[in-house]
Amino acid sequence: MYAAMNPPIVTTVAALRDRIASWRREGARIGLVPTMGALHEGHLSLVRETQKSADKVVASIFVNPAQFAPHEDFDKYPRQLEGDAAKLAGAGLDLIFAPTAAEMYPDGFATRLEVGGPATAGLEDKFRPHFFGGVATVVAKLLIAALPDIATFGEKDYQQLLVIRRLAADLRLPVEIAGAAIVREADGLAMSSRNAYLSAEQRTIAGRLNLVLKDAITRLKRGDSVADAQAFAVTDLREAGFDSVDYVAVRDAATLSKIETLDRPARILVATKIGATRLIDNMGV
Ligand code: PAJ
Repeated sequence: MYAAMNPPIVTTVAALRDRIASWRREGARIGLVPTMGALHEGHLSLVRETQKSADKVVASIFVNPAQFAPHEDFDKYPRQLEGDAAKLAGAGLDLIFAPTAAEMYPDGFATRLEVGGPATAGLEDKFRPHFFGGVATVVAKLLIAALPDIATFGEKDYQQLLVIRRLAADLRLPVEIAGAAIVREADGLAMSSRNAYLSAEQRTIAGRLNLVLKDAITRLKRGDSVADAQAFAVTDLREAGFDSVDYVAVRDAATLSKIETLDRPARILVATKIGATRLIDNMGV
């Protein structure tokens, strides 16, 4: 067995564009998978999904300061480029774009996208008001730098996926925004770089989150009201050992607008905390 060779790493937009231009001359279809690194199977599944319809796949690794509020975990967010490169090699990735903060936000940088629609649904935006403007700004920069045919995002961050779809449509970016299913641990906990913050005891509690969501879906399907299902889920989470619940919300799956009954495809979304660690998850209803 030979270990796969690590994919090349470029750190500037100019070098990224050079590589992609040479692939384009060969007629290749290009895919992009934006990440903040500390990669796990969830991220690798995005690479594999993208490979199904692209000849060359680029992953970006950039912990984006613009989407973290001052009190959030930007400084302690795990950074492990070497390990990430080895994992991406195993997945057969073609190129890593790992820019510095100065490359993405040079001195004098003064532009920030303002996003509405799904970005103002009253979910993540309510608890992280800084977040989607920062995500939209960096994702727009990444999409414009790479100009891929397809870019893939996880349903793990469901609201983010809808915000990026809206952004690409509104800016008429000639790119397909693909969504990929959530990859979970054996007990159902959605994989996340932030799971590494959990102690063993907290990790056990975290595994109950997906059960609470499944119970809520069962209640909805047997005819309970959206309001009751949401309220029961909040109580269930507290009883399961979660310290606080930011939201449990059943929403229109396409727009994230509020619904009262299950008269269209819906999504249940949750954000909850164990100690200082904030977990998000969601499922189709
Ligand atoms: P990050 O949290 O690193 O996630 C990168 C991508 O991986 C996102 O599209 C996310 O939804 C997806 N992902 C994470 N965990 C997953 C799981 N368990 N199953 C499936 N997909 C999963 O999301 C970001 O980075 C940033 O906001 C970014 C879009 C890169 C902009 O900075």
